[in-house]
Amino acid sequence: MKTTLSTLQKMKQDGQKIAMLTCYDASFASLMSEAGVDVLLIGDSLGNVIQGKGSTLAVTMEQMIYHTECVARCAGDALVLADLPFASFQLSPQQAFENAARLMAAGAEMVKLEGGMVMAETVDFLVQRGIPVCEHIGFQPQSVNAYGGYKVQGKSDTEAEVLKRDALALQAAGAALILMEMVPARVAKAVTDSLAVPTIGIGAGPDCDGQVLVMHDMLGVYPGKKARFVKNFMQGASSIQAAVEAYVKAVKGGTFPADEHCF
Ligand code: KIV
Ligand code: NA
Repeated sequence: MKTTLSTLQKMKQDGQKIAMLTCYDASFASLMSEAGVDVLLIGDSLGNVIQGKGSTLAVTMEQMIYHTECVARCAGDALVLADLPFASFQLSPQQAFENAARLMAAGAEMVKLEGGMVMAETVDFLVQRGIPVCEHIGFQPQSVNAYGGYKVQGKSDTEAEVLKRDALALQAAGAALILMEMVPARVAKAVTDSLAVPTIGIGAGPDCDGQVLVMHDMLGVYPGKKARFVKNFMQGASSIQAAVEAYVKAVKGGTFPADEHCF
């Protein structure tokens, strides 16, 4: 059955974990969908893993549209989620709508954008006009220069309060999913418990309602430095299909992430 927003909402209510992976092309879309991945994310991480750049900042709308079309053609029952790249949505709700609509026309069924409470007005604008939104909070790769490096977010009590406040404001604005990156596990749990909508974690502990990894990280093919939250599911797997199935099983069974992957 096709995964929709209602499916994800019901999964949270039933305590079933959501398995998400990034995906950039048709062949992997088909394989991941067959392996039981619930949501395929066309991440702007393609700047890193496809283009070999040091950050996501130079990724364009045209590139996101191209990869979204490639994935959407073979996504099967998986929900197709596409990132709004840097400088495609921050200027105004109108700019965000124009670009989100282009991703939807390319086959996305939901768009993701980075930003805390400052994006609430934009989320509301999109949702009121028929575009489901996933909000990306905690560590936001498009702001890596503002952070001054790859740093865990929400560590102090004050930062944790801000994170929770942001998540609640974004939910109130209509966000259907809240993705948290590099947040202490106990903080991500508190945020997850306070929200009615599902949370997805990457480096955010085992208590989020779902997990996501970059596919090149979980297949162990990314040549760069491996982040703490990454697990290579090719280890012990006989094929890529088996590795993706092992990831889905680990997420659904709550065995990934383990303590060693958490902050
Ligand atoms: O672009 C991406 O791959 C992402 C994930 C890290 C969540 O945004
Ligand atoms: Na991204």
